[in-house]
Amino acid sequence: YSENIKQLPPDPLFGIKTRCAKDTRPEKVDLGIGAYRDDQGKPWILPSVRKAEKLLHESDDYNHEYLPIPGLKQFTQLAAKVILGDDSKAISEDRVVSVQSLSGTGSLHLAGEFVAKFFVPKSSDESSKATIYVSDPTWANHIQIFEHCGLEVQKYPYWNAATKSLRIKEYVETIQKAPKGSIFLLHATAHNPTGMDPTEEQWKVILKAISDNGHLPLFDCAYQGFTTGSLAKDAWALRYAIDSGLYSFPGVLVCQSFAKNCGMYGERIGAFHVILPEHNQALNSAVFSQLSKLIRSEISNPPGYGAKIVSLVLSHPELRKQWQQDLITMSSRIMGMRKDLVAELQRLNTPGVWTHITQQKGMFSFTGLSPSQVQELAEKYAIYMSGNGRASIAGLNPGNVKYVAKAIDAVVRE
Ligand code: LMR
Repeated sequence: YSENIKQLPPDPLFGIKTRCAKDTRPEKVDLGIGAYRDDQGKPWILPSVRKAEKLLHESDDYNHEYLPIPGLKQFTQLAAKVILGDDSKAISEDRVVSVQSLSGTGSLHLAGEFVAKFFVPKSSDESSKATIYVSDPTWANHIQIFEHCGLEVQKYPYWNAATKSLRIKEYVETIQKAPKGSIFLLHATAHNPTGMDPTEEQWKVILKAISDNGHLPLFDCAYQGFTTGSLAKDAWALRYAIDSGLYSFPGVLVCQSFAKNCGMYGERIGAFHVILPEHNQALNSAVFSQLSKLIRSEISNPPGYGAKIVSLVLSHPELRKQWQQDLITMSSRIMGMRKDLVAELQRLNTPGVWTHITQQKGMFSFTGLSPSQVQELAEKYAIYMSGNGRASIAGLNPGNVKYVAKAIDAVVRE
C-alpha cells in the first residue's frame, strides 16, 4: 500500500515558521503565524497568566491527575460566561452545553464530528453529507478540518480584493441558494485572514438570511478581545445570534479558543458550546453525553494545565482585572503598529492605497500584496508572511516596522 502514501507540501502557516526559523539573516521578520509578540518581537506571557501560574504551583491541591472526559467544569462554565456574557439568558435558562476542547482546532473538530453525525440532510441518498459553507478566503485549516470530519465544504463569497471590502450581496445570495440545513461557519470577530468583519447592520442581514433559509450558524471565536480590547463588543455578533432566538434545534454552535487571548498557544485550551433554542433537560444531557463520547474516543480527556490557569485568570478578581488590561495592551499595540506601518508607507509615497491596514481588525492584515511580492519579500528581505498576502501585524515592532515598510515599498515598485 505504500504507493498510496504521497508526500504532502508543508502546512501553509506552520511551513512559514519553519522557513523563517532556518533563515540566518539577522534582520529577518516573521509576519507569518498569528501569535502575539511584544515590542521586542518576543513571545509574551501575559502578566495575568504568569500570576495564575504562580498561584497554581503554590496551591496545595496542584497535581497532574486526569480531568473528567468533558473537561474541567469550572473552566467550561467560566468560558461560557466569557463568550456569552455574565448575564446571558441562555446560561440562566440552562440551555448551554459546554465541553473543553483542544483549543480552537479541537473545538472545530468536535463541531465537525457532531454535525457530520447528527445533521445529515434527510435524503434518499445514503451517501448524503452535511454541507458546511466557509468564507472565501478563510483560515487555511478550516477546510481540511471539516473535510476530515466527512463534511461537504463549500465557499461563500466574502472578500472583494479590488475594493478591499465585503461582498455582502453575493454572500447573502449564497445563503439563500444553499441547500436547506447547511451549516455556515462565521468568524465571530477579527476575520482570519482578511481582518474585515461585517458591520452590525450586515451581521443582522446575514444572520436573518441564515435563519430564513433553515441553516445553522457555527461561530469560530479565536480572537475575542483582539478587535476592540472589549470581550463584550467582540462577542456582539454571536450574542446577537443567540439572543435573537432565530434558530431552531440545535440552535447556535460556538467554538472558543483561549490560545490568543490568554497567549497560551501551546497549551491547547478552548471550549465547544451548543446553545439550544429552549430548555430541555433530556436533550441537554443527551448532547453532553454524545460530545463526551466523541472526546473519549479521540483524546480520552483534555489536558489540565491550561484549563486550571484560565480558570484562575477568569475567577480571581485581581487576575481578571489584569487580564482585561492585558487584552488592551495586546490590541492597542497591534493597532499602533498598523498606524506606524501605514504612516511609513505614506511617507515613502509607496504606490497604492494602504489605509485598509488600519481599517482591518485583529491580528492580521490582508495587505493586498501578490504571491510573487510575498516571495520576493522572503527571498530578498527575509520578511515572511502567508502566500495570500496575510501579514500578522503582531510581528511588527518599533525596531522593524521601518525596515518592513521600506521592503514593501521596494517590491511594490518593481
Ligand atoms: C494562524 O492563522 O496563523 C493561527 O491561527 C495559527 C494556526 O494554527 O494556524
